[in-house]
Amino acid sequence: MKTTSARVLLSVNLLLAAASLNLFAAEAASPRERLLMDFGWKFHLGNEWGIAQNLAKAGSGSGPANVWFGDASWRTVNLPHDWAVELPFDKTADAAHGFKALGHEFTSNNVAWYRRTFELPKADAGKRLWLEFDGAFRDCEIFVNGWSIGHHESGYGNFRYDITDVADCGGKNVVAVKVNASEFEGWFYEGAGIYRHVWLVKTAPLAIAPDGIFVYSEFENNVPGGSAEVHVQTKLFNTEKIQAKAAVRCELFGPDGKSITFVNSGTNLVHTGESEFELGIFLQDMEKYYPVLGKSWHEPDPGEKWVLALSSPVLWSPESPKLYKLVTTVESGGQVVDRQETEFGIRTMAFDKNKGFLLNGRPYKIKGTCNHQDHAGVGAALPDALQYFRVQKLKEMGCNAYRTSHNAPTPELLDACDRLGLLVLDENRLVGSDPLHLKWFEEFIKRDRNHPSVFAWSLGNEEWNAQGTKEGQTVIRTMQNLAHLLDPTRLCTVNINSSYGETGFVAVIDVKGFSYNIGSMDSYHTNHPNANILGTETASTVTTRGIYTNDTAKGYVAAYDIITTNQSKDFPTPVTWGETAEGWWSFYNASPWSSGGFAWTGFDYRGEPTPYAWPCINSHFGIMDMCGFPKDNFYYYQAWWTDKPVLHLLPHWNWPGKEGQNIDVWCYSNCKEVELFLNGQSLGRKTMKKDSHLEWQVPYAPGTLSAKGYTDGKEVAETKVETTGAPAAIQLTPDRSTINADGEDVSVFTVSVTDAEGRVVPVAADLVHFELSGPGKILGVGNGDPSCHEPDVYLPVWTNYSVDVSAGWRWGKISNPWDAKMPELTVKFDDSTWTNADVQSATNQLGGGEHGVFRAHFKVSEKDLAQEIVELCFGSINGGMGTVYVNGQKAGASHDGGMLVAIDVKHLLQLGDNTVVVVVANYSSSGGITKGVTLRMQEKPILPEWKRSVFNGLAQIIVQSTKAPGEIKLTASAEGLSPATATVQSQPCAPRPCVP
Ligand code: GAL
Repeated sequence: MKTTSARVLLSVNLLLAAASLNLFAAEAASPRERLLMDFGWKFHLGNEWGIAQNLAKAGSGSGPANVWFGDASWRTVNLPHDWAVELPFDKTADAAHGFKALGHEFTSNNVAWYRRTFELPKADAGKRLWLEFDGAFRDCEIFVNGWSIGHHESGYGNFRYDITDVADCGGKNVVAVKVNASEFEGWFYEGAGIYRHVWLVKTAPLAIAPDGIFVYSEFENNVPGGSAEVHVQTKLFNTEKIQAKAAVRCELFGPDGKSITFVNSGTNLVHTGESEFELGIFLQDMEKYYPVLGKSWHEPDPGEKWVLALSSPVLWSPESPKLYKLVTTVESGGQVVDRQETEFGIRTMAFDKNKGFLLNGRPYKIKGTCNHQDHAGVGAALPDALQYFRVQKLKEMGCNAYRTSHNAPTPELLDACDRLGLLVLDENRLVGSDPLHLKWFEEFIKRDRNHPSVFAWSLGNEEWNAQGTKEGQTVIRTMQNLAHLLDPTRLCTVNINSSYGETGFVAVIDVKGFSYNIGSMDSYHTNHPNANILGTETASTVTTRGIYTNDTAKGYVAAYDIITTNQSKDFPTPVTWGETAEGWWSFYNASPWSSGGFAWTGFDYRGEPTPYAWPCINSHFGIMDMCGFPKDNFYYYQAWWTDKPVLHLLPHWNWPGKEGQNIDVWCYSNCKEVELFLNGQSLGRKTMKKDSHLEWQVPYAPGTLSAKGYTDGKEVAETKVETTGAPAAIQLTPDRSTINADGEDVSVFTVSVTDAEGRVVPVAADLVHFELSGPGKILGVGNGDPSCHEPDVYLPVWTNYSVDVSAGWRWGKISNPWDAKMPELTVKFDDSTWTNADVQSATNQLGGGEHGVFRAHFKVSEKDLAQEIVELCFGSINGGMGTVYVNGQKAGASHDGGMLVAIDVKHLLQLGDNTVVVVVANYSSSGGITKGVTLRMQEKPILPEWKRSVFNGLAQIIVQSTKAPGEIKLTASAEGLSPATATVQSQPCAPRPCVP
């Protein structure tokens, strides 16, 4: 890590005197709004409309991209949403992606549309409007009001578009997103759809640029002590045609929320158009660039540096994740034009060739896990609360670091790590130094560099075609140089699984990232004594929760910490590259030069069912299962990664039929000695070796297997496993009994099947049914069984019926199809003398350039009106534009000749007689109505019945609040078991500002 060169610390008072920004004194409101756009999207799986973008004519997207497209009968979904988790398992589908019916062979499941209609107030005219996607899987085409506004391929990065020019302030706007998940980007379950948040951002025309704030801190010699220097870099944009003057104020708030200090800039020119500019300092090792307001790039002028001196700052660490806040305010033309809050932390990070990673100046072993974003019940679409739930589980295990394998994470995961305290190895997905890859890489770093949790950038993962080549070396160096340029505070690594020679990634990367290959590390270290070394990936120990014998047919692996590298009937595809938990951790912990490492993985994930294939649909690598239920290895790590006394015995003690046979009993503990008892009889006391475990062979007898742990002669822990009775009851335990009524928060319920004495039956497999009442909904269910093919999600079932309204159409010619006052539009207009129109034939009624009005009358029954949705569907309205009126009122329009047009008309219909009028403005060779007209009724959905089997006694159900406060009640029942009921209070709260 770099050390700070001598620099001038600006006195805050001096600056104050220089600035005359009275506005800053007040908490003036800023025009910036960041509105969550997650609620009320319309979703359709399939693409019956082909290419939506009309390359010939601007602003005329067709099918769902068109403003007038009727999506009333589409399903309403909230984001984040993953449609892959809703698909069935299919033996012929890709094993690595969890056998979900997705990918090349499943063409009808690969492409989906999302649409969101929203109003913008007139007052937004003159603002800049941005649509921001935190990420979507994958290959998205985005349309706003029929205009193509963007195309983003990668499923992991965030992307944003300035939609100001095409937005209608004071009117209705439609965002349509086509998502194409037919290609994979990884070799693990990746989900499908808009599985992260979407935001609508409004700013003044002169404002802070997107990701335009960078704040970081430094200490002399990169070791905490004395004052920290807080560096602030601000980038503004100005989209006005004229130059503007602006000034910026940066105010720091401490972890206690109190204002500490602030600094104001002088007023400076902000150039027009693309005139983004840097304000403040931009320190690099070479100290070359000091871009300053309104001036061209020039050589350093110490007076222009902005450094805030913070005496005795509170440091951030996983153990004490204290956050500071920077409030940046921009003033222009006598008004506050922007204000943004940025959380950050003060800490130092370094790698040392002899001591490994240093946090805040001290050796700090990385006790990390790699993870994919994938959870039971929800797939890749994790509500924020579930990110916190998972981070908390990892911390409970003693984990202090998280590798976002193998992609940029959802931003809220980083927030959770910042706030709860986990270091993050932030990983980039695609390696490349072409302009597009570098652009994505730059956006990724700019998005994440303020997060105190991020301690290093991982540029990629196991790029075995490139990691050992000269070209690979050059590409990775280019990426690393860019990372250094954008972020002077962090080093880079890359996960390398071979080619530790003198050429390739390893030759140039700041921190040598080892993927497995423990056997080569000592000699590498000896031969490269100056190298910084981190175990970027290790372990891959395979275990199944609650299973103690391998079962090839079911696809289960015994949960002892054993790794089998030889192929056998038990292990058709063994993990030849992995290590046991004990194997890797004891090695890393005993090697002071190593920075520690990241176990593959903290949680199971869908796909990669190693060492099996079908019927296994998810991985066995997790230290916890898909739900976050601990496997036994969890306690190995907890014993050696935490300071609290840990004492854990395995296996369970329900082995009917094995009486008298020896059972392998293991104990994970950090107690110095452990004594084991069977039914009160001591089986001996053993001494625990550091970073190890204990084993006994115990002849089975039902009853109680217990243990006592001693340290320094004192009993410090005890535990037991008991032979349970048969399943008798269900228990429901919410992880949080109060959640926020914001439509986002979740409570994660553990469903346990217990015996009559309330002990979880470790072999129970009962099917449990759930019912929910109150202001909540079930998001998904899971049980951690890697071979369970029960659905995670149950969808409502909709049924339709149609009434043909193709009879009795008449038509007449008109000269001006745009006359909204023409009498032909009214109900009482007499069309009896008009020509009959056969709207069912394939032949158009209008000749080239002829405009016409088509009219018909149809009856609507009480039953029809009682349905949820009533749509008027035209097989095809041909010509230029068809405008549809029902009972004298405009109902919709279409300019998509040849396509089905569905118009939501329920609100315009009346019982009995109704009149429909279609005005066809026809500029092409022929036009009119063809392929028939129907009234399509969608009935009230049949709500699904939610259920899930418990796996080895446990299952999970995730319940989400609605925006209404109140009591959410969940009931669970199963044949032959006493049911359970649990409640969660959904409390009133101020939800995040949302797009209405
Ligand atoms: C690694 C790879 C991971 C995962 C793991 C399974 O080689 O980086 O993504 O596939 O193997 O052991």
